[in-house]
Amino acid sequence: MSVTPEHNPLLELSPQNLRAHAAEALTRARARSIALTDAVDDEDLVRQHSKLMSPLVWDLAHIGSQEELWLVRDVGGREPLRPEIDDLYDAFQHARADRPSLPLLGPAEARAYVREVREKAFDVLEKAPLEGSRLTESAFAFGMITQHEQQHDETMLATHQLRQGEPVLHAPEPPRPPAARLPAEVLIPGGRFTMGTTAEPWALDNERPAHEVDVPAFVLDTAPVTCGAYVEFLDSGGYQDRRFWSEAGWAYLNDHAITAPRFWRREPGGWWRTRFGVHEPVPSGEPVVHVSFHEAEAYARWAGKRLPTEPEWEKAARHDPVSGRSRRFPWGDEEPTAEHANLGQRHLRPAAAGAYPAGASPLGVHQLIGDVWEWTSTSFHGYPGFSAFPYREYSEVFFGPEYKVLRGGSFGTDAAAIRGTFRNWDYPIRRQIFAGFRCARDPRPGEVT
Ligand SMILES: [Fe+2]
Repeated sequence: MSVTPEHNPLLELSPQNLRAHAAEALTRARARSIALTDAVDDEDLVRQHSKLMSPLVWDLAHIGSQEELWLVRDVGGREPLRPEIDDLYDAFQHARADRPSLPLLGPAEARAYVREVREKAFDVLEKAPLEGSRLTESAFAFGMITQHEQQHDETMLATHQLRQGEPVLHAPEPPRPPAARLPAEVLIPGGRFTMGTTAEPWALDNERPAHEVDVPAFVLDTAPVTCGAYVEFLDSGGYQDRRFWSEAGWAYLNDHAITAPRFWRREPGGWWRTRFGVHEPVPSGEPVVHVSFHEAEAYARWAGKRLPTEPEWEKAARHDPVSGRSRRFPWGDEEPTAEHANLGQRHLRPAAAGAYPAGASPLGVHQLIGDVWEWTSTSFHGYPGFSAFPYREYSEVFFGPEYKVLRGGSFGTDAAAIRGTFRNWDYPIRRQIFAGFRCARDPRPGEVT
């Protein structure tokens, strides 16, 4: 089997530039963590805004705790700063619902702790050899901790969305799409492509190794399903029609009295939603967000389609039909910019379908990266040749049919924590995450030439 070699700009950096790159990524993550926690007062920081989430102050100190464990103690070989708090911030020890009752660090203490850890981590970054072990090779541990902080920042953003009260976060509106409408669908020709990665230095264990997968021809939506299209499903009685729902989906809908995407409400004159404290009409051209896997699957069935499989999604996002190789992103190998994708909380909402023409794939699939996480029909599993790193709890303990894979990142995902190979997973009932979807279907007779 031949796997096409991948390109990667990170691999060409000198040790000096690699350190600077890691420092810059860590600093950007910290600025975001501070902005998300400084936006509310201390009372709000320690409050649990939803049983589904931790208090914000837990996320903050947990970010510091993981940084201390991996960068300060493991890579740096330094003494523990606060060994007595390790257990409080171990996500596997305490369910989210129980975290508020723990003797957590208060806001001032948590801020001082993460600052102190960061100073030490920077000292380690300056001195540690960036080779010799898998953790230090290409500054992997620093990349892993950057991604971890950014992932918690996205989680904290989801907590902000669940929080009641006046808006405290502000951002400019996303770009508007050009006047020309996108074609609704595109045919992705059948054939083999390279899925996953071996070359990407900061890729996590579940993205590895690169391997060839044969994906038969399929048809994919060029953009995520919009609120306008979703309203048609709702208003035609889709939530009352058993035919569109799986058994688990139908039970979920009825057990929880679910009648619309989370944060939506029907009011005289149409559908409204609450978004970070703003009450507004549902925007028809924008990708739908806060839907569960079950709702995505039911919509797809109503539309006469299905959700894409994970290999289909990745092939659409990475395969270059001209060169035959897999790219890091739909647009090529370069890191995402503001022109390519709606990422990093730069805007507080998904952008309308077609708003990022520079981020389209060679075959014309738009917004695969950014805007909304996209549910796939595939359960989370390890690729052939998978090996857990740096520990089983990173991914392996989540492999199995109970988790569905999501791809592409959302407007709340930072560029450091997304790429064409990046895999996210969650329960099919989850709705507080920034997840939407796009549909796929098998080609009709005559569509494949
Ligand atoms: Fe974590």
